[in-house]
Amino acid sequence: MKPDRKITIAIDGPAGAGKSTVAREVARRLDLKYLDTGAMYRAVTLKVIRAQLALDEPGELEALLGEIKIEFGTGEGDGKVFLNGEDVTAEIRGVPVNKRVSEVSSISMVRKKMVALQREIAVRSRGIVVEGRDICSRVLPEADFKFYLEARLSERALRRWKEQVAGGMKVSLGQVQDAIKMRDSIDSQRRDSPLTVAPGVTVIDTTELSLEAVINKVLSIVNVGGTAVEGE
Ligand code: DC
Repeated sequence: MKPDRKITIAIDGPAGAGKSTVAREVARRLDLKYLDTGAMYRAVTLKVIRAQLALDEPGELEALLGEIKIEFGTGEGDGKVFLNGEDVTAEIRGVPVNKRVSEVSSISMVRKKMVALQREIAVRSRGIVVEGRDICSRVLPEADFKFYLEARLSERALRRWKEQVAGGMKVSLGQVQDAIKMRDSIDSQRRDSPLTVAPGVTVIDTTELSLEAVINKVLSIVNVGGTAVEGE
């Protein structure tokens, strides 16, 4: 049921903690918009890879960022990501992007541009669930509800590995775990808005929880906040 006022829900956490599925489903049940900010950093990374851009060239990076247009599909195209009109949904989840996305997203010029876009999307929405790494701390510190989802590394790796194998990728569980560990370390240690548990955030450890249990936990807290979400 749609809340009777505009609400913003921010969800942060490391890779494989369940953010995307939970955020998408909470948005669907509350009839709110959903924004996957990781997809935006992935699209920029794809553009950087295709342009074979050296990241120590600020002028070239600025020009590339100026040309970039990231859009999310709606209706039948729901869940799709478009980079300058091209459907890049599958490609942004591939190994080359996985390998470079933490590096590209640690650049302040990239973050500044993405954060501004994300805030603009949130302001224009009639209520939104935004997920990423710095949503509670930087993008929407004033969000009505803020969550940090975490889970044991081995469990997060297992979830991602299952997803990737189901998608036809040939990777071992060990490779996926190493890649996640590396990404977590860069994402948490970068200077500009690292992945961190921001003050006032509700932490949910999803290791032993089903998706439905996590979704219900989020919904029950949003409900405690006094919005009309009963009946879900
Ligand atoms: O959620 P994801 O795995 O698709 O995110 C991909 C990368 O993007 C992640 O390793 C770090 C970066 N990211 C970020 O720096 N800030 C965000 N708000 C979202 C993602």
